[in-house]
Formats: sequence, C-alpha cells, structure tokens
Amino acid sequence: TWTPAAFVETTVAGLKAKIGNEKVILGLSGGVDSSVAAVLLNKAIGKNLHCIFVNNGLLRKNEFEDVLHQYKDMGLNVKGVDASARFLDALEGESDPESKRKTIGRVFIEVFDDESHLVDNAKWLAQGTIYPDVIESVSATGGPSATIKSHHNVGGLPDFMKLKVVEPLKMLFKDEVRRVGKSMGLEPNLLGRHPFPGPGLAIRILGDITREKVAILQEVDHIFIKGLKDWGLYDQVWQAGAMLLPVNSVGVMGDERTYEKCVALRAVESTDGMTADWVNLPYEFLQKTSNDIINKVPGVNRVVYDISSKPPATIEWE
Ligand code: XMP
Repeated sequence: TWTPAAFVETTVAGLKAKIGNEKVILGLSGGVDSSVAAVLLNKAIGKNLHCIFVNNGLLRKNEFEDVLHQYKDMGLNVKGVDASARFLDALEGESDPESKRKTIGRVFIEVFDDESHLVDNAKWLAQGTIYPDVIESVSATGGPSATIKSHHNVGGLPDFMKLKVVEPLKMLFKDEVRRVGKSMGLEPNLLGRHPFPGPGLAIRILGDITREKVAILQEVDHIFIKGLKDWGLYDQVWQAGAMLLPVNSVGVMGDERTYEKCVALRAVESTDGMTADWVNLPYEFLQKTSNDIINKVPGVNRVVYDISSKPPATIEWE
C-alpha cells in the first residue's frame, strides 16, 4: 500500500541517483505543489537545488516577504526576486483578461530565464507538476505550457526550457501531495493554503491595472482572508478572494456624498475547481467584514457577496 513515508524514501533515493551532483532550478510559487517538490529535492540534493521565487507585484498583501521567509526557515536554497515593477509596467493599459494572462506569462518567462542564467551550469528544471496537470496538459484547452509555447515558437525556446525536466510529484493527486508534505514536516499553513491563480490579483482587478488598485485590493483581500482565519472558516472554504470592480457607486460618509469603488467577495466550495458552489458564510461574518473593509480601506464604499455557482459562473471574474 502507498504511504507518504515510503513515497518520500523511494523518491529521494531516485532523485539522488538520477541527478547526482548536478544543479537543479525550481520556480517556487508559494503554493503547495512547488513547495512540496522543493522540499523533496532539498532532501535529495540540498544546496544543488536553486529555488527562484518571483514577486510579480500581484500577490496577496505581505505574501512575498512572508513566504520567502518561511522558505528560508525550511532550509531551502531560495532566491527571492522582486520583479513587481517589470510586471506592472508591462501590464499598463491592458484590460483584456487573456492579454493580461499572456503578458504575465511572457514577463515571468523573461524574469525566470534571466534568473536561471545566474545559476552556473544548471542541468535540470524541476517542476511541481501533479497528476491532474499531466491530464490537463493533454486536453484541448492547453495549460501554462501551451502559453509558453505560443510565445516562443518564434525565436526559439528560452534556455531554461531546454534543461532536462524532473517532476517528482507527477504521479500524485493533490491530497497525496499534502500527505507527503505533512510527512516531511511542512507547516499546516503552507499545506492548507487556498489555491491562488498564477496571474494573481491581475485577474481580480476588472479592467486595467494600476499600482493604486493593487494596493486597494490587497487591503480588502487581507481583511477578508484574515477574517476567515479568525472566525475558523478558512479551512471550510476551498478558495476565497476579493474582486475590485470597475464600478463607482454613490455612498455617504458623514454629511458628504462619496463616489467610490465597489468590491465583490467570493468564497467557494469545490474539490477540483471544475465545479464550485458559493459558500453560505454566516451573516455576522459578512456584516463584520463589510464594515471593516469600508471603514479601513479608503476608496471603497460598497461590498457585495458573489452568490453564483460554477457553472455557469467561473470562480475568477476574469
Ligand atoms: P475559474 O475562474 O476558471 O478558475 O473557475 C478555476 C481555478 O483556476 C484558477 N485560475 C487560474 N490559475 N492561472 C492559474 O494559475 C490562470 O490564469 C487561472 N485562471 C483561473 C482559479 O483561481 C481557480 O482556482
């Protein structure tokens, strides 16, 4: 029978034999899969694993600093690369969801390629691919690798994509990845983290993206997510987040009329993200969260809760 401990033992031995004394590059996202893959490789090859964690400027509030710190505490050889300005400059004026994704994918590849050139004589690219990703990538829609290819079929692949690929989690389902991570001592807060899209807050800011909008949404999201944790609701929800709508509405503040932004909160239950139901969060929680957001986040005067299920609504709004 399959056990996490046995998986770790055979996988680490296999990675040692396969990689030997060669250097490996791995992109950490802050998510469960890449983190577990990194810890497995760290066990096998230690400092020859070079992890790269990129801040695209579209992460949650404090996420880059907090997660980078946590990775270092875990003993990983990780470099944090703050490329926020590069991403946000490239996104200026873009409001179409798919072109936002393409721009972010392209800039990520550029940043990652630059960084991987700084690792002398790397031979391998490690990825936290899990079994459902393998299935998805052969389906018609095409995952991130399809995006990468569409951008680089002219002028050739970036150098890091020519490396030998190692994917230690390729045969595992998500719950197995979590169990493997737990057996290696990864923190519950890392293992239990909600899914978060690669393009980050870019696809939760409807329309064009500015630094000011990112800052507003980070505050709103932080109040919502921290509230879910404080109320013991975080682990009952599969994914949650806030959307900044391209809508101003009228409000009152004291004797003054305001004309400010509206945010939508979304929390869903799901097992794989393919279908999802909105979560029946307690009214008291929604009431408190809405008050906190409107009182604490300048520029926001209205909060709505998304009660749409998938299908037909998607989880993200873009
Ligand atoms: P939707 O909005 O399609 O989302 O119902 C399903 C799941 O996928 C995530 N998502 C993405 N993840 N890049 C990603 O890495 C993307 O472009 C992207 N779009 C959606 C979403 O957060 C949810 O978990």
